[in-house]
Amino acid sequence: MDIFEIDGPVKLSGTIEVAGSKNAALPMMAASLLAAGETVIPNAPNLADIHSFESLLSQLGARVSRDANGALHIDATTIDNPVGEYDIVRKMRASICILGPLLARCGKVKVSMPGGCAIGDRPVDIHLRGLKALGARIRLENGYIVAEAPPGGLVGAQIFLGGPFGSTVLGTDNVMMAATLAKGATVIESAACEPEVADLAHCLNAMGAKISGIGSPRLVIEGVNELKPVSWTVIGDRIEAGTFMVAAAITKSRLRLRNCDLNHMVAVVDRLRSIGAVIEPTEDGCEAAQYGAICPADITTQPYPGFPTDLQAQLMALLALGEGNSVITEKIYPDRFMHVAEMNRMAANLRKEGPSVIVAGVERLIAAPVMASDLRASAALVLAGLAAYGTTVVHRVYHIDRGYEKIEEKLNAVGAKIRRVDV
Ligand code: EPZ
Repeated sequence: MDIFEIDGPVKLSGTIEVAGSKNAALPMMAASLLAAGETVIPNAPNLADIHSFESLLSQLGARVSRDANGALHIDATTIDNPVGEYDIVRKMRASICILGPLLARCGKVKVSMPGGCAIGDRPVDIHLRGLKALGARIRLENGYIVAEAPPGGLVGAQIFLGGPFGSTVLGTDNVMMAATLAKGATVIESAACEPEVADLAHCLNAMGAKISGIGSPRLVIEGVNELKPVSWTVIGDRIEAGTFMVAAAITKSRLRLRNCDLNHMVAVVDRLRSIGAVIEPTEDGCEAAQYGAICPADITTQPYPGFPTDLQAQLMALLALGEGNSVITEKIYPDRFMHVAEMNRMAANLRKEGPSVIVAGVERLIAAPVMASDLRASAALVLAGLAAYGTTVVHRVYHIDRGYEKIEEKLNAVGAKIRRVDV
């Protein structure tokens, strides 16, 4: 079991290469199931969640490999076991994304209900609502979702995919992928507009799908008879990019980030600039810096293009050092505050009030042993450790490895002092 030992405070400088987006690559790996032949993702990030999905695809019957350049190859010609086992799905929620493609390709699929996790229970009711609207017959059996397409295959429909917390990212992916091979047209109202969903839609169109309205809450999918495999380079990871922007701001440093698109980060850049960060676009990314005081700010997480919930914890770490009081409200996962208690152990002054946290800025954070919980909260604890006085020890680093490729190596290359220790 690895821990991080993080010496602080540090100053950072240099350039960080942002990886390909985990949350674009995962659904794209599911989309490879729609086509017989070899799909290639040249820049699929090399991290735990991707490895879990590789194992899942192999279990289904696909052949998965990485070439010498690190490109991910998925040959989905033969899918002889359309079953997503509990031991993989419970670790990685995105496994639910095999539902739509396998229903469309094989006409049947069995996948374990995803369990809950540190950020709350993770229902899939909207996924199932959408697939049923396409004609799928779905039942729950011993913790598994068992889905079957009608004898003539799925049939296009008009579907509303909105839920109590707005749109659903993976739910939109699932229904959109299933609809590509359905008979007739499907209209998805209240579709998720995240850049990762748009990237998947563009990839599906390159495979021969007919999807319009990409990037909007209304997607129209004309069903086709078959899709062909493609090679598709995923977009840069905007959440990783935002995490490193905060690394620059919390240490009052200046970093250059490559392979990130500020057009995907308008809400994030808006909040960082209101906090006093300087974010300048460059030809292949941006420069992020913080020179003066960290100003307080109010942040509310919302579906895209609103402020992303996956950067809520990271901004909380930054605002913990703000010169004044901030309010952070979580509208996507109301329980996504596991990092609050851990940051208070570092002398932050955070108080949960219902769906919000009142952040009373303090002058300095003090190093302490802390426990990682969910993927993004863990990254926030690393950021806090960069600014805290002393050596912060972050336990359960495996949470971070799920979504960040060797985060300590990237940060150490620009001046951080993080040691990964196997204890
Ligand atoms: C995706 O999860 C991301 N994961 C999450 O990132 C991200 O936090 C989330 O979108 C929101 O942006 C991947 O893309 C692999 P949702 P997803 O369905 O699709 C509720 C990370 O850190 N809901 O958009 O599972 C749900 O409970 C991860 O990389 C239903 O009620 O999230 C939540 O409150 C964490 N019923 C809200 O909708 C459903 O059927 C948004 O969830 C589905 C969702």
